[in-house]
Amino acid sequence: MRRVQVGIVGAGPAGLLLAHLLRQAGVDGVVLEAKSRQYLETSPHRIRAGVLEWGTKEIALKAGVGDRMLHEGLEHRGIYIALNGRLHRIDFATLVGQGIWVYGQQYLVRDMINHHLQAGGEILFEHEVVDLKQLEQNPILIYRGPGGEEGELLCEFVVGADGSHSRFREWIPGLRIYQKTYPFAWLGILAETPPAASELIYASHERGFALYSMRSPSLARNYLQVSPEENLETWPEERIWEELNLRLGGVAQLTPGPILEKSLTLMRSLVVEPMQHGRVFLVGDAAHVVPPTGAKGMNLAFCDVAVLYRALLAYYRDRDETLLASYTETARRHIWQAELFSYWMTKLLHTLPDPFEEQIRLANLRHLVESPHVQRFLAENYVGVYTSGRYAVAFPSPPG
Ligand code: FAD
Ligand code: PHB
Repeated sequence: MRRVQVGIVGAGPAGLLLAHLLRQAGVDGVVLEAKSRQYLETSPHRIRAGVLEWGTKEIALKAGVGDRMLHEGLEHRGIYIALNGRLHRIDFATLVGQGIWVYGQQYLVRDMINHHLQAGGEILFEHEVVDLKQLEQNPILIYRGPGGEEGELLCEFVVGADGSHSRFREWIPGLRIYQKTYPFAWLGILAETPPAASELIYASHERGFALYSMRSPSLARNYLQVSPEENLETWPEERIWEELNLRLGGVAQLTPGPILEKSLTLMRSLVVEPMQHGRVFLVGDAAHVVPPTGAKGMNLAFCDVAVLYRALLAYYRDRDETLLASYTETARRHIWQAELFSYWMTKLLHTLPDPFEEQIRLANLRHLVESPHVQRFLAENYVGVYTSGRYAVAFPSPPG
């Protein structure tokens, strides 16, 4: 049976970043990924995140995977809240002295795959992990390869970075799951259209929430609050553009252009604890899910990896297991902060079915646009509490 030091399941942002950092530190790792490389890099089903915290951008640079991101990404120093036909700017630079970085997750995944393979790293695409044995000592990953053949990989450590539908949650005994669902979903589109605004617009409207975001100066990413049971067939292109412009309330005008992708994203919050068992650890969406309103998911994945990478380095350099033992305890600080913020943003911006809750929501929103104190809470959380600054998780620079 083949042996490795660290077996990583999933080539999303979490698994790839960890694999690349460990490789630079001389730790021998293998990534097993169920999908093909082409699917990860080009499938419209993998478009996902677009906003990086400033500190996430810095981590990508320190890890040596951020060169393209730096040239093609866009720096934003604030966001807009649209309410009753008026735009209110939340000025991150003034409020907290930092901005955010707009760069598509799928592009970053492509960049990380390139860098990792060029550095001699190993990613086994189309290798689906189907089981896990011996969690306490020398865990074994059982996988199915592209031709259906089964294989086993004996690891010193296993890291589950297998995303929001993680199988690890079934395989690890004694996990506690905290979760919440919301009575709405997002209809998302990627479209070729000229820029309608220089920064993201989060719009609250009585017909439902709308978000104007972007991937590049000519590619817009927009979302509409819809029902979780929504049938996308009932949303032809004209209806989508009309509804987006209605909900933006005249503060920005979107010009209809070719829609390259249309999807429905359900909203949920979920945390599993502990994020470890024996020699098995969870990172990213496998351990926690946030609704996308706060743009936190990928940033959280990077934070987890920073904590676990430091702990694995301490183990491989000094055989010190202290940081590994406290991994969940350390990570749960940044996780619950992001859960809190994502929940807050979600409840603040979506129309709610309960009339009393809806009035409370509108009162909260008025408070936000009028009060610099509430704006500071939003700004501090949006640019990221734990990837940089005073409370940042420690991220050792990779050697060399
Ligand atoms: P994933 O990216 O899901 O990667 C997991 C990988 O594991 C996948 O490649 C999968 O194929 C593989 N896998 C699964 N099971 C197996 C198996 N059994 N064997 C082998 N491989 C397996 N986050 C932000 O920070 N900012 C945003 O602006 C933002 N916007 C979002 C918008 C939308 C519409 C959505 C859906 C999400 C958004 N997110 C955002 C969240 C972000 O996309 C996720 O948090 C991020 O993808 C988590 O990365 P991950 O590596 O943990 O998991
Ligand atoms: C995106 O660009 O896809 C995006 C931006 C902000 C969010 C969620 C998604 O809150």
